[in-house]
Amino acid sequence: PSLKDVFADDFKLGTAVLVNEIEDPNSPDAQLVKKHFNSLTAGNELKWDATEPQEGQFNFTRSDKIVDFAVENGIAMRGHTLIWHSQTPSWVFYDENGNLASKELLFARMKRHIDAVVGRYKGKIYAWDVVNEVLEPGDKQPGGLRNSLWYKIAGEEFIEKAFEYAHEADPNAKLFINDYNTNMPEKRQDLHDLIKRLKDKGIPVDGVGHQTHIGIEYPQVQELDDMIQAFTDLNIEQQITELDMSVYTNDNDAYETFPLELQVKQAKRYKEIFDVFRKHADQLTAVIFWGKDDLNTWLRTFPVDRNNWPLLFDERLQAKYAYWALVDPS
Ligand code: XIL
Repeated sequence: PSLKDVFADDFKLGTAVLVNEIEDPNSPDAQLVKKHFNSLTAGNELKWDATEPQEGQFNFTRSDKIVDFAVENGIAMRGHTLIWHSQTPSWVFYDENGNLASKELLFARMKRHIDAVVGRYKGKIYAWDVVNEVLEPGDKQPGGLRNSLWYKIAGEEFIEKAFEYAHEADPNAKLFINDYNTNMPEKRQDLHDLIKRLKDKGIPVDGVGHQTHIGIEYPQVQELDDMIQAFTDLNIEQQITELDMSVYTNDNDAYETFPLELQVKQAKRYKEIFDVFRKHADQLTAVIFWGKDDLNTWLRTFPVDRNNWPLLFDERLQAKYAYWALVDPS
């Protein structure tokens, strides 16, 4: 059975891909995407370092391939991401003398970038992660904001401007604020309050994206339930934007092969989590995996090099117990 069909009454079912996975539309990888998913995210190809590596010099070769693949196959395309502290060229933050850029210069660069990228895919990309990972309670800044170069130069205003520019470039795109560990109570609260402040000011925020990079033990399923519940009063869309489930509980373990006991445990946990997602289907508009199979997963290099089996299909694109738990819960 096709995953997107199983959840057709609930939410879109998505995956992230890198361009090599779909470049040949007849490859097994591309076929798998077409069969199971109706939302697509580019894993790296729409990030600033990919689309505008040098100032004013845009390169859309790889992102076009993914967006075209989505459009041709009737798959809804998500844009990830416009403003982030990572995978952003350092020229963005400095002037020609090598000093930290002024707020005016930073905003001018932001506007040009957002106009170009969002404008190019206007009508083709249905939702954008306008800002990614702007919170870091550990940085101890007001509001729990991350002390990134964006923040150092412009304070919270960079977030407001990003949403305004994106809205001007495509008034119909759904605009998201995306972050990880949004289940953690302190960060969850900071995110909630930030969205409230933005909305009170009339900033066009349409949704919150929960990355949801989780582990085989942590967090408890109830915490994921609470995570979604915590944002319902804001009247915004919610999406699970980068779901995967590491089989580890720490950074030190590494298995040669995937222990059978953990395969079963992972399947049960995926099932429980999707039951929670289903319960919130009136708020949740998409659930997107960060990859489709255990070969094409960032968790084979992050946070350390090791085997990992976080997704629904194995290294040979065969359906895992986790897949069967979702399509045939009996
Ligand atoms: C990851 C990609 O999957 C990797 O290929 C890349 O090397 C680093 O970024 N949160 C995000 C994603 O928002 O953009 C990250 O993607 C994973 C964590």
